[in-house]
Amino acid sequence: MNILLLGSGGREHAMAWKIAQSPKLSKLFIAPGNPGTAQVGTNLPIAADDFPGLKNAVIENNIHIVVVGPEDPLVKGVVDFFAADDALKSIPVVGPDKFGAQLEGSKDFSKQFMFRHNIPTAGYLSVTKDNIEQGILFLKSLQAPYVLKADGLAAGKGVLILSDLDETIDELKSMLDGKFGAASSTVVIEEFLSGIECSVFVITDGKNYKILPEAKDYKRIGEGDKGLNTGGMGAVSPVPFADEVFMKKVEDRIIKPTVDGLNSEGIVYKGFIFFGLIKVNNEPYTIEYNARMGDPETEVVMLRIKSDFVDLLEGVAAGNLNEKTIEFDDRSAVTVVLVSGGYPEKFEKGKEILGLDKVDGSIVFHAGTTAKDGKILTNGGRVMAVSSYGNSKSEALAISFANAQKIQYEKKYFRGDIGFDL
Ligand code: AMP
Ligand code: GLY
Repeated sequence: MNILLLGSGGREHAMAWKIAQSPKLSKLFIAPGNPGTAQVGTNLPIAADDFPGLKNAVIENNIHIVVVGPEDPLVKGVVDFFAADDALKSIPVVGPDKFGAQLEGSKDFSKQFMFRHNIPTAGYLSVTKDNIEQGILFLKSLQAPYVLKADGLAAGKGVLILSDLDETIDELKSMLDGKFGAASSTVVIEEFLSGIECSVFVITDGKNYKILPEAKDYKRIGEGDKGLNTGGMGAVSPVPFADEVFMKKVEDRIIKPTVDGLNSEGIVYKGFIFFGLIKVNNEPYTIEYNARMGDPETEVVMLRIKSDFVDLLEGVAAGNLNEKTIEFDDRSAVTVVLVSGGYPEKFEKGKEILGLDKVDGSIVFHAGTTAKDGKILTNGGRVMAVSSYGNSKSEALAISFANAQKIQYEKKYFRGDIGFDL
């Protein structure tokens, strides 16, 4: 079987690494990929949202399944594009269509969906310029801190959590005035939930689902979870507080109602659902959905899937995921993300990365890297994810930290406290 994977980050290198281990695989292509994915497959110089370019690649390379890594092609309708094209419609794409991707692409859509299906989540009100006064009254009825979310995709920056009411009202107005462009022409005001967060993932064929290993990511740039939000600075799996009792509640109250809800509403959803959860007084609440896997969570989730990942992808394609089994690796898996100094604000690219040959016992997933004249250079904020197994979380972390030290480039930074709170 030939597979085309879309994307170019650490998540996609981790998926490519896992897919490449399958005996069912003939050829793996990645569009556009990165120097890491080039080690396990063939990179194609096609952007993940260049639909006509992808069409040519699919036909030329006799692709049997397309797997979508990032949200962007999903929200732009890659699945719909394939479905509407005579030459492509028989080729399964693992990812939801444009409508289903609104679970991630529109906070208002996802909140309405959760309320329709009684899925536990924070109370909210969606506000536009037309009902701003109602929004201000709602804010006044809440206790600080206040949560404001741009309805649409805002590159991970669209969520504000503020402690002062007047400042929140000012921010609400500025969001509605286009602070995040069209993404904030609707703002979701939410009740603040206090608890500990984790990420749970399922793969679904639209009717059946399999729960993948859960993970916890570390979003803030600074140690002790301080400073600006990033795409993610590290992750661990398993998550000790996501025990059997908790996960049973998650499945019964959140996962099942979500998959059944999609089904009952006629929303075709074949792909991954990422549940951003928070545990409040031992009860799970849904903070958000994403229509894709997490990054850097995937860099630990793939390590913990023991079964053949391609077998699961086939189950999605064929709609018989119920006949598949998924087995987890009992070991701990962790990842430590190396970033460019300055990230998530201004940073420089093009720094030569040395010491990769000295890495021992970790799997280094490339994220923002590029190859030039036989050298590997930094090419993004998040550069690499140093992932390791261990018999315990601390054993795995010690291996990742040691290897994170061996990889060298100017202004390298990583958090030395991943997993500190567990
Ligand atoms: P989101 O993009 O919706 O996942 O929000 C980003 C982050 O903001 C989450 O990972 C949480 O840490 C925080 N957050 C979002 N919504 C809430 C909420 N209702 N209560 C507390 N924290 C929240
Ligand atoms: N690590 C969080 C995300 O992928 O959105």
